[in-house]
Amino acid sequence: MAVKVEATAPQSAKADVIVVLLPKQKKGARVPFGKLDQKTGGLLGSALAAGAFSGKAGEVRSLLPADGKPAKRVVLAGLGNPDDVNEEAIRRAAAIASRASGPPSRVAIAMQSVPGHAKRAAEAAVVGFRLGTYRWNRFKSDAKKAKPWRLSLLTDARKAAAARAGAKSGEAAAAGAMLARDLGNAPGNYLTPTAFAKEARQMCRASGLTCRVLSEKQMGDLGMGSLLSVSRGSAEPAKLIIMEHGKKAKRPTVCLVGKGLTFDTGGISLKPPTEMDKMRYDMCGSAAVVGAMQAVAALNLPLHVVGIVASAENMPGSKATKPGDIVTAMNGKTIEVLNTDAEGRLVLADALCYAQRYKPSLVIDLATLTGAVVVALGKHMAGMLGTDQKAMDALSSAGVATHERVWQLPLDDDYDKAMRGRSADLQNIGGRNAGTITAAQFLKHFTDDLAWVHLDIAGVAYDDPSRPYAKGAGASGFGVRLLVRFLQERAAR
Ligand code: BES
Ligand code: MN
Ligand code: ZN
Repeated sequence: MAVKVEATAPQSAKADVIVVLLPKQKKGARVPFGKLDQKTGGLLGSALAAGAFSGKAGEVRSLLPADGKPAKRVVLAGLGNPDDVNEEAIRRAAAIASRASGPPSRVAIAMQSVPGHAKRAAEAAVVGFRLGTYRWNRFKSDAKKAKPWRLSLLTDARKAAAARAGAKSGEAAAAGAMLARDLGNAPGNYLTPTAFAKEARQMCRASGLTCRVLSEKQMGDLGMGSLLSVSRGSAEPAKLIIMEHGKKAKRPTVCLVGKGLTFDTGGISLKPPTEMDKMRYDMCGSAAVVGAMQAVAALNLPLHVVGIVASAENMPGSKATKPGDIVTAMNGKTIEVLNTDAEGRLVLADALCYAQRYKPSLVIDLATLTGAVVVALGKHMAGMLGTDQKAMDALSSAGVATHERVWQLPLDDDYDKAMRGRSADLQNIGGRNAGTITAAQFLKHFTDDLAWVHLDIAGVAYDDPSRPYAKGAGASGFGVRLLVRFLQERAAR
């Protein structure tokens, strides 16, 4: 449901909960939102005077106006130092406020004016609040049919236009991220490649995107022996899902490619049981692509964007690929599969080949590809490697703005040697060292020297340990907001 943007002062808002985002208040400064303070019998002033609320980052306080006016509850949330207030501070405060605002009702958000971009501030408030309310309780039988939140954003008249644009962009990005979370959280028995294709189709239909789904037969005819080698051991057939926006836009094409392993057992190179359940998240790269496509459509970005999802289930069935098997990718390159658990690169190889038919100006792939990236960067940043430095710089900035941060690692021919095959052109593992880099070197062989960026999101795709709008959500939706911001900037250049 759309956020209403209203040029209304908080004391006049019609809402059950009024959320007020405040930076740290200076000693002896006037009480902010004086009229709201008056109307609540001085609640804000006394909270500040008593030191019950100071505006520190992370701080939240619920105030209950005596006669329930102008709202049943006023929630104060801290933005931190006024000089350091940025989009992330707003997202975090709004998310923390959302936790104190339940159960779902009518909420009006007001923000003490902070320097900077009014559009992005409004966007951040919407994103933070929306994502903060995300719960994954599809399979909780006691989760009552939750009422929807009704959100309005209060602004002064001067900033109303900017706030409206920001709210719209925030709604689209947050909805995309929540779709990615829902897909990511769905367990392997519900979200098979076939079910994934159905979900993508539904999103495309609702968003006005074109959608094509290739069957295993069609992929076979295209020569996608690498991708198909991954689904051989599973009763669930692989799917290649292609979503397209802005075909007629006569603008440069960007392809977004996602790894979509709806479950990764490792195959014959079976994974150990500890935490194997987490491998339901092995389609989070693809989920981000689907979420981003939905947002791109909602914002009608003036770009030609093609989303390609390579979905399969990696199982050790009797027809499964065996270590030592040799397979041939769509571009004719042969691959020795030395470890069937290095399957992500095998599905991406053919998906990257397929992307070339769109003659893209840029290909970005997202994949929960290596455990090594979690060792290198932990759960706070995604690994980024690629051949287009300008695009990578732009992604870095978009990552800082959205706090979906990426950190560049090198590509270099010296690393490539590890991936050369003994009996075939390539092998799919490269030894203990630099696992994230060697995986990317492998992928590079299927990009035909196009401008290409690879994001390894294995560490950031789920179980976010810190961000208040992602914590406890399971799948984080990482990548959707990053891609949307990056594509917005690219469309504007
Ligand atoms: N899906 C995994 C990577 C992964 C690991 C994602 C941890 C999320 C958390 C991938 O398919 C995989 O198994 N990679 C192997 C590659 C190795 C066999 C070269 C890995 O990283 O151990
Ligand atoms: Mn694997
Ligand atoms: Zn995997």
